[in-house]
Amino acid sequence: MSAATEVTNGQQDPKSRQEEEVGKKGRHSAVGHKSLLQSDALFQYILETSVYPREPAPLQELREMTANHPWNLMTTSADEGQFLMLLVKLINAKNTLELGVYTGYSLLSTALALPEDGKIIAMDIHRQNYELGVPFMKKAGVHHKIDFREGQGLTLLEELMQDEKNLGFFDFAFVDADKDNYLNYHERIIKLVKVGGLIGYDNTLWNGSVATPDDTPYPNMVPVGDGITLCRRIQ
Ligand SMILES: C[S@@+](CC[C@H](N)C(=O)[O-])C[C@H]1O[C@@H](n2cnc3c(N)ncnc32)[C@H](O)[C@@H]1O
Repeated sequence: MSAATEVTNGQQDPKSRQEEEVGKKGRHSAVGHKSLLQSDALFQYILETSVYPREPAPLQELREMTANHPWNLMTTSADEGQFLMLLVKLINAKNTLELGVYTGYSLLSTALALPEDGKIIAMDIHRQNYELGVPFMKKAGVHHKIDFREGQGLTLLEELMQDEKNLGFFDFAFVDADKDNYLNYHERIIKLVKVGGLIGYDNTLWNGSVATPDDTPYPNMVPVGDGITLCRRIQ
């Protein structure tokens, strides 16, 4: 209860209680709800009318399983998953990278959007959460597209770069791991994606907290989920 809703005798003002009830109803309950929209009810409306009806069943099941996981706030939201699928299809991506897997909502979204012979190298410091998602990847018939690698993101990227074949090879990369390393990741991933390839960095609006008066907005910022910064390799 906010201070404003308390009345002097310690009881809650009935009108304020009613307002709180309305507020609760309007508040979406979706897991991974890093929406920047002003109204939670509006976000719920978007999910229910546009996102959930088109969400493939294995993705829905993975989302519901993840909702019961103690770290469920980490998951990519369903609207962002749908946006990633669109990006992957638009650029006809075949070989992709993902850094920061958790239970795999963004990974499964990407895998579903790739062609049958597409491949994703998926990297995370912990394998155990990815393993929770594997049955859903198998059910979706896309597990064969995924090459999961466990370890520190920087180490795994360095390993990839040691093989010359990987330089300029990948069509798309999605980065959703430790934010402090984003610049270090970028220095490496920009060499791994091909010219014309796309990189998406998640959470770059950080729940709106980046919008301080001194901040210069990123040029390719998409206010989906918690903000995705898109970078296209141009040379
Ligand atoms: C926000 S979650 C990823 C969510 C995921 N994209 C999804 O759709 O559910 C961040 C992940 O980054 C991983 N991570 C954190 N630090 C890392 C590091 N240094 N190297 C590799 N992975 C890391 C965590 O284990 C966690 O699974």
